[in-house]
Amino acid sequence: MRLTKFIDANHEKIIGEWIEFAATLVPWAKGMSEKDLRDHAEELLTAVVKDMEAPQSKIEQSDKSQGLTSAGALASVGHKHASQRLDTGFNLDQLLAEYRALRASVLRLWEESTGNKQNDVTRFNEAIDESLTESTTRYSEILDRTREQFLAMLGHDLRTPLGAIVMGASLLTRTESLDDRQARVAARILNSAHRMDRMVSDLLDFTRTRLGTGIPITTKAMDAAPVCEQVVAELGAIHPDSTLRLELRGDLRGEWDSDRLNQVISNLVANALQYGGEDGPVIFSAEGHPDEVVLRVRNTGATIPAATLKKMFEPMVRHSSQSTDRNATGLGLGLYIAREVVTAHRGSIDVTSTAKDGTTFTVRLPRRPSPRRDA
Ligand SMILES: Nc1ncnc2c1ncn2[C@@H]1O[C@H](COP(=O)(O)OP(=O)(O)OP(=O)(O)O)[C@@H](O)[C@H]1O
Ligand SMILES: [Mg+2]
Repeated sequence: MRLTKFIDANHEKIIGEWIEFAATLVPWAKGMSEKDLRDHAEELLTAVVKDMEAPQSKIEQSDKSQGLTSAGALASVGHKHASQRLDTGFNLDQLLAEYRALRASVLRLWEESTGNKQNDVTRFNEAIDESLTESTTRYSEILDRTREQFLAMLGHDLRTPLGAIVMGASLLTRTESLDDRQARVAARILNSAHRMDRMVSDLLDFTRTRLGTGIPITTKAMDAAPVCEQVVAELGAIHPDSTLRLELRGDLRGEWDSDRLNQVISNLVANALQYGGEDGPVIFSAEGHPDEVVLRVRNTGATIPAATLKKMFEPMVRHSSQSTDRNATGLGLGLYIAREVVTAHRGSIDVTSTAKDGTTFTVRLPRRPSPRRDA
């Protein structure tokens, strides 16, 4: 039997074997459902068989071995697979590992069925696969690092001219001789410069976490209540048409970084105001428990699908289906940074979304983030 016929006749078995093999080969597969793993494998096998059966000239063969061909079913399945896996949160190693596993299981089953052991070919394939994975992974790491270093430098260097714009614009807004129109322009420049400054800070925070230094926090004994009140007052003023309720309960004192806490709350509340339903209220509560303070931000609006919830805290993720014209202005870093800040405080952040209760972000902050010295 030819290999193509064998693949055709054994789709189910190959996929089953592949799933089993993938699960043992790569720990990441454990957390995935069988359906996730099975996804596209069927389609991929069909495209592979079709490609193998199509007549191929010498030139085409050489182009293919050098990765120069792109059109056709194989390419389109490959593109679709890449987008779907990226959505699921796969990295490049995992994507490559999947292909390695698929090839390995087809060849193993084929050998078993023909009784024709191809030891040398199998070992050769494995060796090339391993080297390919190592080299691609390293390559993409270096590329990511260079990109992040560039962002870090850009962010850093933008701060000085931005600082000058903020200073100049605030000076202008305090100048009494301006007419109304000029004063409005000055206020707009100041506002925009502040927004840019926040984005640059987020970008720098992001590159810090990526370049390994982490988000710096300086904890001090403080009360979360005034921070919550300040954020609500500020954001309430920017969104006068929305209903924003603040509920404070119990003792809200602890050892945290006040600016960073403000940053986390601001992003969660701003998100709720931006992406939540237009009519429903946004409810922000802070509750003191014996060892921790629990912050909850709740908004109404469309239920967020479970798959989206899973990757909500990943950087640069925006869910366009929930975004309308009145929002979608950020870099998609707010939740990522919020999670990093909360983790630096040894706390946790979660999100749930149901039709009945709306979308709720919950932050749990231990009152004392650092291990007690006397412990
Ligand atoms: N409360 C919410 N309800 C519905 N969708 C939300 C909510 N909070 C966040 N999202 C979705 O998650 C995405 C990521 O949020 P995140 O705060 O990380 O980034 P952003 O708000 O787009 O930009 P940034 O915060 O960097 O200015 C948002 O673009 C939005 O689509
Ligand atoms: Mg945000």
